Amino acid sequence: MADASGRSFEAEPLKGEEAEGGVSKEKSCTEKLCLSHLTGWRTAAFLLSLFLCLVVVFAFSFILPCPVRPQYLPTWNRTLPDAATYDFLAVEDANEDKALDVLFIYKDAEASRNTCLSEDLSVPCLVLTAVDGTDGETLWERPLAAEFDWLECGVKGLGLQGTGCLVAHADNLTAIDKKTGVIRWQQSRSTVLNGNLPLISFPDLNADKAEDFAILSYNPEASSFTPIPLVFFSGKSGDQIGSEVHVDGNGVFGHLRFKTASGAPYLLLLKKSGLYAVSLRRLAALAGLESALKDEKSWEEKSDTHTGLISLYQFDSLKRVMVVPGSSSPSLLVQTDSSVSLLHTDKLKIAWTTNTSTLLSVPTFGQFDKDGIPDIMIEEDVGNKTKRVLVLSGSSGVVLWEVNLLFWTPSPHPASVLTLNTYSVFMLWGQSHGNQTNEMHSSFLLHPRLSQLLLERRNPPQNIISFKATLLERGRHACYLVLTGPDGRQRAEPGETEPVILTKRKIKDDVSESGALRVTADESITEEDVKQEFYRLRFSDALF
Ligand SMILES: *[C@@H]1O[C@H](CO)[C@@H](O)[C@H](O)[C@H]1NC(C)=O
Ligand SMILES: *[C@@H]1O[C@H](CO)[C@@H](O)[C@H](O)[C@H]1NC(C)=O
Ligand SMILES: *[C@@H]1O[C@H](CO)[C@@H](O)[C@H](O)[C@H]1NC(C)=O
Ligand SMILES: *[C@@H]1O[C@H](CO)[C@@H](O)[C@H](O)[C@H]1NC(C)=O
Ligand SMILES: *[C@@H]1O[C@H](CO)[C@@H](O)[C@H](O)[C@H]1NC(C)=O
Repeated sequence: MADASGRSFEAEPLKGEEAEGGVSKEKSCTEKLCLSHLTGWRTAAFLLSLFLCLVVVFAFSFILPCPVRPQYLPTWNRTLPDAATYDFLAVEDANEDKALDVLFIYKDAEASRNTCLSEDLSVPCLVLTAVDGTDGETLWERPLAAEFDWLECGVKGLGLQGTGCLVAHADNLTAIDKKTGVIRWQQSRSTVLNGNLPLISFPDLNADKAEDFAILSYNPEASSFTPIPLVFFSGKSGDQIGSEVHVDGNGVFGHLRFKTASGAPYLLLLKKSGLYAVSLRRLAALAGLESALKDEKSWEEKSDTHTGLISLYQFDSLKRVMVVPGSSSPSLLVQTDSSVSLLHTDKLKIAWTTNTSTLLSVPTFGQFDKDGIPDIMIEEDVGNKTKRVLVLSGSSGVVLWEVNLLFWTPSPHPASVLTLNTYSVFMLWGQSHGNQTNEMHSSFLLHPRLSQLLLERRNPPQNIISFKATLLERGRHACYLVLTGPDGRQRAEPGETEPVILTKRKIKDDVSESGALRVTADESITEEDVKQEFYRLRFSDALF
């Protein structure tokens, strides 16, 4: 209270002066009467503004609650004895506390016996579970019939509001609400048994106000010469909509959804010989579904009149295509057997190509240099259990940084988190040279401004199935998630007793537990310098 009145008194003299100044300019009152009127008005204005001040102070201190920031444990783990897990980790806000929660799926024989039986499922069954990002407590568990095929979360149109998860397992496609774990719908997936991720999302096609999706089916291993089927589903009910479309899929082994600079959505098809595209508008029209989708004129001029397929670019032994995040004119990072290159999609021109040997992991984007264009971290296999980790400039493809590390298989991919200083910090895995008698699986932190030295945290060997570095809250809570345990895709040996463990660790907490690994002979910076820089970091939730 004392504080409040103090503030309003402080503010008042200023206001009075302003009012006086304002009035004397606008009206030139010559009579004394006029002045005394003014004094009355001034007193009223004073009292009114005092009253308003107090109302505001009271409102903020008592009536409107302060936003409560969720408190979180820097490290937590969720341990499931005698289970197996899959390469899947998603972060979504399931309990609406503004901190993201973690979703993963496991197959369990013991702990979830009752959970499986309660849903009339045979043991072992799959359990999709959401754990609280702040403390690792289970939010919900959804038992599902085994076997697991694939799973995508963040799918629009599945829940009542927001997004949900879609699981392909046993004979069914099952849509699950991310807030409650409740099954929204369950449908036979007999038409898309060989369906591949990612789902191709469409805006509402069947006028039920929910986004819809389509699933493309092909066998990535076989070079099939038959057209590949595309089946549309209603996001709301899971019913098939429209008719099945056949895409000229001769040799397709991968696909992704892509939006051109003008906002026209395309399906990109990866074949060994090159990159192809077909417009989503055309595909929806072929299925007999109405849409307001656009085409990209400059691309459509190149389309095959029979199939509608557009040959974007020819490559030798294409391996992988990724959309470069956050660029205004969308570009694609293209990986072949022996190179990575950047393809500008407006002119369909290669900006740069860098020769590589076989890559061990998915390339990772992050800001390394100061030009604001996302740079690329890749890991090459250079033989002898050694990998060369490189950072390539996103603008020119030149090598900005490199280090050699020993690796084990399967080697977890690197990750990056953007900071407020417009650079990212990177996290990567490997064994450092020198001590092979006592094999340790280390994680390394790389600071782009002090890249002469890596911070190394040694861990006992663990079978990492999935790894992700992310922010769990806006601008804070930078952490990483590691999912370890037996791989559910490999037939588990009977009697295998290893647990599945999901661990969350705060990135900054690793710093004090780390030692230094020198990358260059430059001794000008010390381990302590790097650690201090890491403690000072502030993180950004912008993607790039
Ligand atoms: C999991 O967390 C508990 C304490 O919360 C700790 O005692 C245990 O060592 C952790 N397990 C692993 C594998 O990190
Ligand atoms: C598949 O879904 C149907 C319809 O909900 C259900 O009756 C059936 O039990 C499910 N099958 C499996 C294996 O979950
Ligand atoms: C990259 O590889 C191609 C073909 O193997 C070769 O012609 C080219 O000279 C190489 N470029 C560099 C910079 O080594
Ligand atoms: C692998 O490394 C060992 C020792 O580090 C070396 O003796 C051997 O020649 C290397 N092999 C190859 C193929 O580089
Ligand atoms: C290897 O590491 C272990 C434990 O970290 C240590 O006891 C041992 O001395 C190391 N050996 C060498 C050769 O550095």
